[in-house]
Amino acid sequence: MKGLILSGGKGTRLRPLTYTRAKQLLPLANKPVLFYAIEAILNTGIREIGIVVGDTHEEIRAAVGDGSRWGDDVRIEFIQQSAPLGLAHAVLTAREFIGDDRFILFLGDNLIGERLNPLIDSFAAEDCPYHCRILLTPVENPREFGVAELEPLSTDAAIIIESDGAPSEQPERRVRRLIEKPKDPPSDLALVGVYCFDHHIFEAAESIRPSARGELEITDAIQWLIDQGYDVRPHLLRSYWIDTGKMEDILDANRQALKGLAPSIDPTATIADDVTLQGDVTVQAGATIRNSTVRGPAIIGERAVIENAYVGPFSSIYHDAQILNSEVEYCIVLEHSRIVGVPGRIEASLIGRYVEVAASHVKPHAHKLMLGDYSKVGLLDN
Ligand code: DAU
Repeated sequence: MKGLILSGGKGTRLRPLTYTRAKQLLPLANKPVLFYAIEAILNTGIREIGIVVGDTHEEIRAAVGDGSRWGDDVRIEFIQQSAPLGLAHAVLTAREFIGDDRFILFLGDNLIGERLNPLIDSFAAEDCPYHCRILLTPVENPREFGVAELEPLSTDAAIIIESDGAPSEQPERRVRRLIEKPKDPPSDLALVGVYCFDHHIFEAAESIRPSARGELEITDAIQWLIDQGYDVRPHLLRSYWIDTGKMEDILDANRQALKGLAPSIDPTATIADDVTLQGDVTVQAGATIRNSTVRGPAIIGERAVIENAYVGPFSSIYHDAQILNSEVEYCIVLEHSRIVGVPGRIEASLIGRYVEVAASHVKPHAHKLMLGDYSKVGLLDN
């Protein structure tokens, strides 16, 4: 099997953070979202991964490299998509890389909380009768996703393999219908951005027409497979799934990523005697912490400086950022940003790169802001 990750497209829903950078490189617990997708695939034993890239290809190529950081036997190839014309178009772009192999497709801005091994092991097996397998999970807002309708239960169906590898008593149902972002969803089962395909998906992608939003939808391609009689089966996710392409989900995704992080202190970090580290705290190379409390789960990035400060749970301070005489909690602070002498605590906030948030004692006493398009600021009203 091969892996295919889609990392092209536009990041409009994450503006202003994605005006200048790929949304797949936004860090969760100081690691780009895309790296979680790469590692999820590598953890199944797959060693060849193609990454479809678009306008932001230079940045993605630079961050990922040739794959050798994950091992000498890992091969990563970049595949350039001419324009973001849809997920099925992206898959077609990767046809030469995939060849006749079966493959797992992973959307580069999705984060899932469980191992893919049971899914891959059963789909990669030579006697696997399925042509496609899709990951599904119940959601509260199915209108925002691709949605699946399953066939009614039938007792002669195959045994489903659960995420923990154990066969369940529940018979597996075929997928009957898929609809992309339906106004009137037939179920609450959303398509998680992970799919398994055999080569029939290429014929499917060639056979469909662009949707109302002008894209070749992977959902329509899978519907084509179903309509032609190919066997499309679901796999229900048991753990969390977050589409990090949506701003409101980023802090939650960061929280999940921090929960999975084993605490560690890099030997090159400087931690003064007057510092209190509570809970699971990771301090990366060259970071400096003085006269401060860091309450985990939290991560302090390379060369970051925390001084006379409080960093509360579920915070990620990325490399070269500074928190001085200030308090942050449940925040992501991106690289080279500075928070200096801010009264009150900054909470549940996402702070971009090279941002400066500072208190000023200069009169007239007023808020002075320089905010990019689509910025959001919540000020205390007292
Ligand atoms: O997140 C799950 C959802 O992902 C599914 O429920 C939907 O069925 C599926 O269509 C998809 O919907 P989105 O509208 O969220 O997809 P988005 O445009 O955000 O693209 C997903 C990833 O694929 C993202 O990393 C960008 C990349 N991409 C997207 C397009 C349109 C490409 O590489 N090329 C493209 O042409």
